[in-house]
Order: sequence, then C-alpha cells, then structure tokens
Amino acid sequence: MATAVRANLYHGTMAFYFEMARDQRDHYYRLAKQEGYRARSAYKLLQINEKFHIIKRGDSVVDLGAAPGGWLQVAAKLSGGSIVGVDLEGIAPIPGVKTFVADITHESTVDLVKDALGGDADVVICDAAPNLTGAWHRDHAVSVDLARSALKIAKKLLKPRGNFVVKVFQGDLFLDYLNEVRKEFSSVHAHSPLASRKESAETYVVAKKLLTSPVRRGDMLDVQIEYLGKSGDGVAIVEGFAIIVRKAQQGEKLRVKIDAVKPNFAFADILERKG
Ligand SMILES: C[S@@+](CC[C@H](N)C(=O)[O-])C[C@H]1O[C@@H](n2cnc3c(N)ncnc32)[C@H](O)[C@@H]1O
Repeated sequence: MATAVRANLYHGTMAFYFEMARDQRDHYYRLAKQEGYRARSAYKLLQINEKFHIIKRGDSVVDLGAAPGGWLQVAAKLSGGSIVGVDLEGIAPIPGVKTFVADITHESTVDLVKDALGGDADVVICDAAPNLTGAWHRDHAVSVDLARSALKIAKKLLKPRGNFVVKVFQGDLFLDYLNEVRKEFSSVHAHSPLASRKESAETYVVAKKLLTSPVRRGDMLDVQIEYLGKSGDGVAIVEGFAIIVRKAQQGEKLRVKIDAVKPNFAFADILERKG
C-alpha cells in the first residue's frame, strides 16, 4: 500500500514538473511570437547577457550555428556593430547581419568569417546543436565535439580579452570541456538560463576575456624571481609576462606551477627550490 502511495506521489510530482516545463516553454514561445523573435532561444541569450554582460554596444559578434536567427536578432539589437552568422542551414535576411552557409567544424569557416567581419571579433556565441538521436551518450559526445570546434574557431576569431558563449549538453565529458575553456579565458561559468527548458540537459559555458598570455593554468615551469612585488611575493617574467610566485624571494631559481591566469599576470605556487 505504502509503495503504491509513494508511486502515485512520484508520478504526481513528475507530472507537475513536466506541466511547469511545458508552461515555461509555451511562455517563451508566445513571447517570441509577440516580440518578433524567430526562435524562443532568443531569450536564453538575452538572459545570459543580462547576467554576464557578454555583448556591449558596438561589439562585433560572430554567431556559430545561428539558424533560424533568434540569437542574431538579439546580437544585432544589443550591439548595433558588425554581426556575422553561420549555419549549415540558410538564414533569412536580418538587417545589418551577414550570414553564410558554412560548417563550424571546417577550418575554412574562420577565413570566411574574418573576411566578412573585416578583422577580429569582440564576441563569439555558439548555440549549435547536433541532430539529436535520443541515444544520450552519443548526443552528449557529439555536442562536446561541436563545442570543441566552436572553441577552436573562437580562439582564432576573437580579439584578446574577447568573450565566448557556447552551448553544451551535460554529461560525463562536460567537466573536461569546461576545464579546456578555463585554460583559455580569464573567467568561466557554467550557466542554465531560465529560458532553457527545465527538462533540458543543455548548459551554457560563459567565458570572458580571452587570454593571450604565454602561460596557462596548470603549466609547470622553471623561473627566476626578478624582484618582489608590493604584496611581498616574488615576480618572475616569462616572455614579458609577469608571474607572481607566492612566498618566493628575490633571486631564487624555482620550479613553479601556474594556478590562475589573468589578462596581465599569473599566480603560481612553488613546486621546488633549485638552489
Ligand atoms: C538550436 S539551433 C540554433 C538556434 C539559434 N541560436 C537561434 O536563436 O535561432 C542549432 C543550429 O546549429 C546548427 N548546426 C549544427 N551543427 C552545425 C555545424 N557543424 N556547423 C554549423 N551549424 C551547425 C544547426 O543547423 C541548427 O540550425
């Protein structure tokens, strides 16, 4: 009897959540129709931008996997700068936006976009999704592959300190991917906007300030402390880039491990003193 009650409760609760998810989906679907967005996903970018301030007025923006064009409409509205969208599918014209049919896993797409933009981008956004098969592991793996292609392209397209947003389906490869992005940007968050369906496995990786430093988090290297900074920590210079080594003394030769990288300097801990 108790089991039957629990089962009923469970089904009741699940039905409630699915109902809520459907209401939420219908809400953004209706809103998109009212406000003239081509896709309800437009609200995901609006919500991400409200929280993380990824796109500023005048920014040049590249949208990878952009059809039917909801995110492009939002990018055009937020920035008013140069906007380029690419997708495997054609995209109906949007004023002030250049679009191309291209594959984001192909190297040649970088040159195509750079030519259209006339330079590097302030922001790269990617909402690309593979065709879902329902085979959860396969869909997750293909989504991570696509996100990896987007990261590769973003690194080539972005200006130093540029921003990047990419969709990934959750799964066991997600953390590895997140760490790959963390190595390339100064600040990185995983975020699910309210407009993402409750039952959806999608997460957005929001990465700010592309790093162009010669070192990355986790790197181990030999350095010599050249001087002491204001905080009293040692400072080594690698290819003109300052590395602040905690508890190091002037003149010391050290093996260090980088544990945080900022646009203009990095922090490191001592692994070994080298006499
Ligand atoms: C969810 S839709 C994007 C919706 C878009 N953000 C909007 O607001 O209209 C995902 C898109 O990714 C595209 N896509 C998937 N793989 C791609 C690839 N390899 N190259 C380019 N586009 C791709 C699909 O064609 C699809 O149009």
